[in-house]
Amino acid sequence: MIRLTHLAGALAGALALIAVAAGPSRAAGDAPHLAAQDWTFKGVFGTFDRAAVQRGFKVYKDVCAACHSLHYVAFRNLRDIGFSDAEAAAIAREYSVPDEPDDAGDPRTRPARLSDRLPSPYANSQAARAANGGALPPDLSLMTKARVGGPDYVYAILTGYTPPPAGVTVPAGQYYNAAFPGHLLAMPAPISEGQVEYADGTRATVAQMSKDVTHFLHWAAEPNLEARHQLGLQVIIFLILLTILFWFVKQRVWRNIEH
Ligand code: HEC
Repeated sequence: MIRLTHLAGALAGALALIAVAAGPSRAAGDAPHLAAQDWTFKGVFGTFDRAAVQRGFKVYKDVCAACHSLHYVAFRNLRDIGFSDAEAAAIAREYSVPDEPDDAGDPRTRPARLSDRLPSPYANSQAARAANGGALPPDLSLMTKARVGGPDYVYAILTGYTPPPAGVTVPAGQYYNAAFPGHLLAMPAPISEGQVEYADGTRATVAQMSKDVTHFLHWAAEPNLEARHQLGLQVIIFLILLTILFWFVKQRVWRNIEH
């Protein structure tokens, strides 16, 4: 009986350790409070919602891509979120990318292919700043991992545009955002009601589009999340089985020893 309690104790200890290791890391800061959203990719067993990621790609493509690049995503990666080869290639062909110069040495462009990355909306960062009142729209590939609060932060920014409180003056070219640290940023509210038309008939509210595009951006930032979660689960099961095995081994080794 005592031995069984030992085993239970060891198991509980192992599970507690795993829970601590898997928990979210939090950094302290004076940033506004972020409401925790209910993401399907959260937690040890979390997975991406393919429909949400695809809708989010549409929001990125139709809205955010006008100002933000997504350097680390190639068109072929779109196959991982449920587009077929032909669909991903068709999306690629909508873009043009720099090609080899022609025989006279003049620059040329060609339609993008599956192997190309999503092209940047601006030729260089100077052009990007010039078009945005001096502020540089950051690349969004790793955005959900680069900010404290991650996806909750990105969602809060997209839905955080409110009229400024009395007494706060907003300078020209700046916009008030309740979720942004300091509250003034150079991005005008990017999303408005009904801005995109979803192929699956989902109503395009500001909250829905913000949630979908954040879901998509989290996939872009961590495309291996599902494989990582699956491996983690396998490791946990392995460790539990190993604990049980060691307990039996210990019983056997100590069988004939007085204590
Ligand atoms: C009209 C151009 C424009 C569009 C469209 C736009 N952004 Fe931005 N975005 C900016 C600029 C400029 C900044 C930099 C703001 C600053 O530093 O004050 C920015 C900053 C951001 C930030 C970073 C905030 C931070 O913590 O630094 C996020 C996240 C973001 N944008 C997401 C999006 C998403 C998602 C979309 C599409 C729904 C989008 N943006 C559409 C111009 C744009």
